[in-house]
Amino acid sequence: MASIWVFHGPNLNLLGLREPEHYGSRTLAEINQDVLATASQAGINAECRQTNHEGDLLDWIQALTSDDFLILNPGAWTHTSYAIRDAISAVRVPTLEVHLSNIHAREAFRANSLIAPVSIGQISGLGAEGYVLAMRYAIDYQLRRAK
Ligand code: DQA
Repeated sequence: MASIWVFHGPNLNLLGLREPEHYGSRTLAEINQDVLATASQAGINAECRQTNHEGDLLDWIQALTSDDFLILNPGAWTHTSYAIRDAISAVRVPTLEVHLSNIHAREAFRANSLIAPVSIGQISGLGAEGYVLAMRYAIDYQLRRAK
């Protein structure tokens, strides 16, 4: 069973092609590879998934337990989805929100995250490296809890 999950929301399957000035040139497969390598070096199980369907993400979150850790880039659902926020609250899964771009330095609608209040914290604007930093944090968190 994976204990650290990395869920990517809508349009993140297009990374590499999509607005590289905001999201960089790395593909989602490359990002996932780096993140999973970081977990496996630490001997921790991790799994990455992406969806363009909000219901899928809700089902995946509801299937987590409070022993899991979630690294989540909700994409545009960050700014719109009370349902995703409520699912995280309901499951009480520790969640770290990640964005490739700095959502606070772009259009006004992006600065509001509905997910931030139910997250441990937010990494925003560090590009693909943000995911690896999030994974390092998640590993430490899970190792601390296992003691
Ligand atoms: C994003 C920022 C969101 O505003 C946007 O809708 C995305 C990507 C990011 O990673 O920077 O799809 O979450």
